[in-house]
Amino acid sequence: MTAGTHWWERPDLRYRDGRLEFGGQDLAPLASAGTPAYVYRAGRVRDNLERLHAALDAAGVPHDVYFALKANRHGPLLDALQATGRCGIDACSPAEVRLALAHGFREEQVSFTGHAVSEADLDILASHPGVHVNCDAISTIRRLGRRGAGRRIGIRLNPGIGAGYNERLQYAGDKPTKFGVYPDRFDEALAAAAGLGLVVDTLHFHVGCGYQGDALAVLEQVLQNTMRLLDAHPGIRRLNVGGGLGVRMTESDVPLDLDRWAAVIARHAVPRGLRIAVEPGDYLVKDAGLLLVQANTVEDKAGTRFVGVDAGLGIANHWAYYRIPMVAAPLRLQPGAPRQRVTISGNINEALDLLAEDVELPPLAEGDFLALLNVGGYGSAMLSNHCMRGACWEILLPGDG
Ligand SMILES: Cc1ncc(COP(=O)(O)O)c(C=O)c1O
Repeated sequence: MTAGTHWWERPDLRYRDGRLEFGGQDLAPLASAGTPAYVYRAGRVRDNLERLHAALDAAGVPHDVYFALKANRHGPLLDALQATGRCGIDACSPAEVRLALAHGFREEQVSFTGHAVSEADLDILASHPGVHVNCDAISTIRRLGRRGAGRRIGIRLNPGIGAGYNERLQYAGDKPTKFGVYPDRFDEALAAAAGLGLVVDTLHFHVGCGYQGDALAVLEQVLQNTMRLLDAHPGIRRLNVGGGLGVRMTESDVPLDLDRWAAVIARHAVPRGLRIAVEPGDYLVKDAGLLLVQANTVEDKAGTRFVGVDAGLGIANHWAYYRIPMVAAPLRLQPGAPRQRVTISGNINEALDLLAEDVELPPLAEGDFLALLNVGGYGSAMLSNHCMRGACWEILLPGDG
């Protein structure tokens, strides 16, 4: 494999003369300045956002996009998103609501969907009447309603079937899950809202995180089920289809075709005149961020070559916790160099602290830098200081246009 032939290369992320560039910038000087370091590119986030809008527009779907803040809350990136004026924020905690407002989003641009919402949380939400709240339990409806009538709310429905990068990231299925009101209690939820003077204007569902092109049948099924409820309650004019749109993580993934995705939604929403909300996290930021690390220990152990690096699962837990693969890419590539299979291990004292297992890479030496790709979502946002190894840099590339 030579430069320019990796499946993940694209105009803004590619090798040029054996140097890995992101947004036209050689990453090696950045890595030399300090690792581990998350590096983001706002231009890519904007492109992802515009692609989503374009697909829904082309399918004739009136819609609003809310960026799921939980995926990445790096301040400069939020500022860049806010400056586009092309999305609001999906928040799942009062702290996320406040962060969104602090970055210039208006209350009316914030959609809240949270689970296990406490009395203190509800007090804060009540003090932001413009924030739209999707209630994920009848209990939440009752307790929010006690804080005042008249508010417009959504009801989060448990869709019963899920989809995601893998079974760990499916939010509904045969086993009961904690999210949303099940359809058999939907009428009870509506009655609770009506009894307290809350106006239900939205139905919400979220199937899971990371569904790809082969999961559109699940979305279709969920939409069909949801339409039965909406047809029975024509006063609900908005459908929030959640987030969960996946990014291609391996060469063999079936990429999500946004036009097909939008067509599935349009088939149900357009004839009914529904307005669609979508709240992607990963889809906007995952492939807009990478993690620079440095190899410090290269050693063969029982037939496996381990490349130990200066970050672990406290900094990037995608593989260790979720079995979501990260692509490892050396910052320098020698043309024609032989390749070998290696496992990239982190600096946390836990057996599961691996960043990539049995991946093919050119020979790596101690001191070499690597980029772990597709970590712009749920990377820095989930930092932990386990083993006191949580320190890392975050850089938004300048000059992104
Ligand atoms: C209700 C809801 N919306 C949106 C998201 C964002 O998901 P993703 O980053 O996969 O798009 C999540 C993630 O957990 C969620 O629970």
